[in-house]
Amino acid sequence: MSSLPLTNIPSVMLDFMNDDHREATLMTNKLHTLLLDAREVEDFDRDLITAALTEIYTHDKEHFAREEAEMERTGFPAYGCHKGEHERVLNELQDVLNAWQDGMPPEALETYLSETMVPWFINHINTMDTVTAMFVSRQG
Ligand SMILES: [Fe+2]
Ligand SMILES: [Fe+2]
Repeated sequence: MSSLPLTNIPSVMLDFMNDDHREATLMTNKLHTLLLDAREVEDFDRDLITAALTEIYTHDKEHFAREEAEMERTGFPAYGCHKGEHERVLNELQDVLNAWQDGMPPEALETYLSETMVPWFINHINTMDTVTAMFVSRQG
């Protein structure tokens, strides 16, 4: 079962968050395509995949920071909980990036992407991001 490529992602009440989620979706699909291609050949370009994974990590960091700034500005009550989840995921992604650089096979990275990262992403938008966007948009 694969949920990739990502097509219809849920939308929330704030455009800047939807823009970040759309960008994350494009990056995720790009990484997925590179991983599928890597399965076809013996000597795939590991650096290309490292770059795509790093791009996702960097974008997540910025995307999460933008949400956190809005939660802080408006005094969102579950700020700590939402920020904690962002931090957990960034740490997990950093571990995966390290493992990839240590020689993780593309099949394992593809499994992480489709069975952990993408389901988390959709669930996070449907829960914490949805509630946050609703709260922030009401504060103006
Ligand atoms: Fe988000
Ligand atoms: Fe979030």
